[in-house]
Amino acid sequence: MKLYINPKNTLGHINPELQGHFSEHLGRCIYEGIYVGEDNKDIPNVNGMRCDVVEALKQINIPVLRWPGGCFADEYHWKDGIGPKETRKKMINTHWGGVVEDNSFGTHEFMELCRQLGCKTYINGNVGSGTVQEMSEWVEYMTFEGVSPMADLRAKNGHEDPWRVDYFGVGNENWGCGGNMTPEYYANLYRRYQTYVRTYNHEKPISKICCGANVDDYGWTDGVMSTCFRSPEFLHGFMDGLSLHYYTHPEGWIEKGSATEFDEKVWYKTLSKTLYIEDLINHHAAIMDKYDKHHKVGMIIDEWGTWYTCEPGTNPGFLYQQNTIRDALVAGLNLNIFNKHCDRVKMANIAQMVNVLQAVILTDGDKMIKTPTYHVFDMFKHHQDGELVESFIESEKIGLEDEFMVPSLQESVSMDKEGRLHITINNLSADKAYNVDGLIADAKILSVSGEIVGGEMHEHNTFEEPEKVTKRMFKDVSASGDRINFTIPASSVLHLSIVL
Ligand code: AHR
Repeated sequence: MKLYINPKNTLGHINPELQGHFSEHLGRCIYEGIYVGEDNKDIPNVNGMRCDVVEALKQINIPVLRWPGGCFADEYHWKDGIGPKETRKKMINTHWGGVVEDNSFGTHEFMELCRQLGCKTYINGNVGSGTVQEMSEWVEYMTFEGVSPMADLRAKNGHEDPWRVDYFGVGNENWGCGGNMTPEYYANLYRRYQTYVRTYNHEKPISKICCGANVDDYGWTDGVMSTCFRSPEFLHGFMDGLSLHYYTHPEGWIEKGSATEFDEKVWYKTLSKTLYIEDLINHHAAIMDKYDKHHKVGMIIDEWGTWYTCEPGTNPGFLYQQNTIRDALVAGLNLNIFNKHCDRVKMANIAQMVNVLQAVILTDGDKMIKTPTYHVFDMFKHHQDGELVESFIESEKIGLEDEFMVPSLQESVSMDKEGRLHITINNLSADKAYNVDGLIADAKILSVSGEIVGGEMHEHNTFEEPEKVTKRMFKDVSASGDRINFTIPASSVLHLSIVL
């Protein structure tokens, strides 16, 4: 198979945020998975955050973290999560498992987590059941410097300095769990609520994200955009991003399917359904273009990933699932697609970071494992902040059912700030390796190094066998002049780094 790369033709900037994460008050994501409490003596922690998890996440350069939801966001009242822990209100997390939420992880704890991770902050506000005043005061509490009721309250609660809020989401899934609204109704609320998401420090502006569509609900995109952009004065500083949610459900929304027990048909079906995100990006972007010709509004895919039937014996409301080589491919495909659409896609957040859905980390008490998806992120991190480079890879159509045929190979290429090329290639075949003959236009290759995540499609890590799937060195590449040659094994994700 031929691979062609033209390093002289750069096609856009790859925002680090394309490899963002999402953490919701759902199951064991926040509690147990990340936050174990300041007084926990059994699990090493810094200010309540698990050291093992934070260390592992730092390794993959988490660029941005979205919180507190998801559906939870539109039921969350931020004032319940500040002040002395013993006086914080307890509530039932009605959406997710009906468990008690004691609000011990709130705004201060989230900001502390982001400080430890060194990542940007993405706060999702409450439109569904919250007021404009509540949203406005939350922004003031987090970001206002000087004398104000909320800044004073923040100082009283132990944090004199304002924090930086990089992104603020005005509601979540307001077409569904966030209030069951129509696009026009939500868009009018967006116009109103966003007015009070004020940037107090103009050196650190808050990017405002409007709630976008679910999957192929193009009517939502059109309805929201047309209502929001009806008056030309709203064109600037009014909407920085429009979200899109798309999950890969191999067997459909009801059945979903097992995370670890699937056959080859389901393997291809899963990958084919994953690739569908590219159609969604193109179609939603075309509608956005009608109202936003200069691409001022970024597409923010703030929930993506696999969603299977939860692991047997676990609380169905906790969405805990295992993660196999199939998930590694799903991650590799999505991340390559986001790179290729970096002109429009400005952020993407995998759902979710720890213990929920396509998690990069799973925990059990004081034990922690990195999933195959984690190792893919670890390879793709080299694309962060790079320039997308023109590339093309030859492939054949493979699969077992006409409806779910996929290309055998898929790639994206970027150039980093030091001038190194990073090629990430997915081999979607469950059983066939491909020899790849690459040409890098007008280049003289000085050296190549490689790393790979792959194996038999069901392979996954367990607490008993935590290193079954991991990132391995890939040395089987030959390079000479402007040519490289290698064979990519079946069901694998490969990263090559090339010094020119
Ligand atoms: O990630 C789980 C849920 O999926 C989120 O809470 C919601 O936004 C989406 O439906």
